[in-house]
Amino acid sequence: MCGIVGYAGPRRVVPVILEGLRRLEYRGYDSAGVVYLQDGKLTKHRCQGKLSNLEAIIDEAILAPSHIGLGHTRWATHGAPTTENAHPHSDCSGDLVVVHNGIIENYHSLREELKARGHRFTSETDTEVLAHLIEENLQGDLVAAIRKSLDMVEGSYAIGVLWTGMPDTLIAARNQSPLVLGVGENQQGSFMASDIPALLPFTKDVIFLDDREFAVLTAGDCSVYSLVSGEKVEKNITTIVWNAAMAEKAGYKHFMLKEIFEQPQAITNTVSGRIDPESGQVDLPEIGLADHELNAIERIFLVACGTSWHAALVAKYWIEKYAGIPVEVDIASEFRYRTLLINEKVLTISISQSGETADTLAGIRLAKKLGGKVVTICNVVGSTMTREAHGTVYTHAGPEIGVASTKAFISQLAALFLLTLYLGQRRHVLSNEKSRELGRALIGIAEVVQDILPGLETRMSQLIDGFFSCRDFLFVGRGVNFPIALEGALKLKEISYIHAEGYAAGELKHGPIALIDKEMPVLALVPQDAVYQKVISNVEEIKARQGRLILIGTEGDGHLKTITDDVIYLPAVHEDLNPILYTIPAQLLAYAVAARRGCDVDQPRNLAKSVTVE
Ligand code: G6P
Repeated sequence: MCGIVGYAGPRRVVPVILEGLRRLEYRGYDSAGVVYLQDGKLTKHRCQGKLSNLEAIIDEAILAPSHIGLGHTRWATHGAPTTENAHPHSDCSGDLVVVHNGIIENYHSLREELKARGHRFTSETDTEVLAHLIEENLQGDLVAAIRKSLDMVEGSYAIGVLWTGMPDTLIAARNQSPLVLGVGENQQGSFMASDIPALLPFTKDVIFLDDREFAVLTAGDCSVYSLVSGEKVEKNITTIVWNAAMAEKAGYKHFMLKEIFEQPQAITNTVSGRIDPESGQVDLPEIGLADHELNAIERIFLVACGTSWHAALVAKYWIEKYAGIPVEVDIASEFRYRTLLINEKVLTISISQSGETADTLAGIRLAKKLGGKVVTICNVVGSTMTREAHGTVYTHAGPEIGVASTKAFISQLAALFLLTLYLGQRRHVLSNEKSRELGRALIGIAEVVQDILPGLETRMSQLIDGFFSCRDFLFVGRGVNFPIALEGALKLKEISYIHAEGYAAGELKHGPIALIDKEMPVLALVPQDAVYQKVISNVEEIKARQGRLILIGTEGDGHLKTITDDVIYLPAVHEDLNPILYTIPAQLLAYAVAARRGCDVDQPRNLAKSVTVE
């Protein structure tokens, strides 16, 4: 995680860097820092905490007539989130600075060696080792020193380096941590950043650095080379279709609320153009697998982390039911460390908003190495996963800034349902009639979500009056809605810091029911589906133990009102699409509770949106 930004060009550098960092703060906000070069000297400002703290102390620097510099927003790995540990980090002379995202795994031994050679360290970070290592190897040629130093380093990095000895040049390099270069239009300079949103106010033309590549950036040029051979690499420029306004709050109090309200559009954008609205036939050529390969699949692994893992859990129900392929769902950090029985007949699908999550990326690399086919479902164009997978099914949620994932999740569900139909159709296990029914239901769900959103927001903000100060919360669901209970609990705990757990409703009696008393809120998902009666029995068991029930069920189901006053009704849709619909009240509940408790909704403590370390 961490976000880095660099700029060389005609604009004043500090505002460019601050603007970029603001858009990367979702990657971490433990500290922030900026460095710029002016009159041959480097000036550095660093601050513990959020970017706003940094902005408060650099009033004057905003106006500095400097045109080259670097910035950083940190998610702490090595060393506490203090000012001393904030990036940029300098060498002993103070003439060379480094910003870094990633982990230098052998930093300890390197640090001891460098200390023995007289280098003075001022932080506890792994990053500072890089500054001193480059200083140690520097004999006039910065590029040579960086290449030599990175050759000695184990671990992951995206770095930016600035040295007074080359006052017009920034060096960027990457290995396993994302880095994208921006090519300024009309001679507006060169940029580097951890992620696209940082570049959007300035340029839409970007170059994705690959592992073991470095770039030399000056105001007028952006050239890429291999770290291994030193030779120039010809790179394609990709034009990004997102715009800067998409990464703004647009009048909403928080990004999270804005992104919840963008979900109907996210579904439509993900689905449209890929499915025939009449027949429900799906076309996904970007999956990159020929029909004979699709037909040969014997098993699917779905691999993901966090909220994306919940999308995978839902998809297991869908794929097994409609495509007839056995599915295993794995948390990526577990997947990569167990014995995997993968061959060319096994399809591994990673699900990731960012396409950069370290564990998920390692998972697909492993699956590929074992000879399996790999497809990724991803939101960020050009991200590492999309470049490494055999095929990519993009979700088109647009940039998601709130750290808690909302619209990215909904668009993942939409993409996974599409994929299910595609697999079922290509493998001839889904009839034309069923395809039509499911396809139309999928297309129609965006409008249903659109219709329920405003009323649901109001209802939720009233309903939480009696719940926002609770210490614990349980969420229960069954069948295809069980993962939504997990997602509801995750949303609540990550943004409101209330302890929350999701359970399969039928599993309650095997332990968690012991937690239930008149203080315990339990949100139960009870749509009128195939397991409705079973969930109602579970709900009665909770009621008998005086649990404080909130029920979310189907419009017209009067029985729910006899169980509790706190009922939220949702329209009836195809029962397999209920996970999309039932996620919305769970998100709005978490949002309303967190906002009422005064929590930092978009940037919850200790979290980062893109987890690029193991
Ligand atoms: C972090 C984020 C979550 C996200 C997870 C996986 O934990 O805070 O919102 O679900 O990473 O991220 P990915 O980009 O792979 O979907």
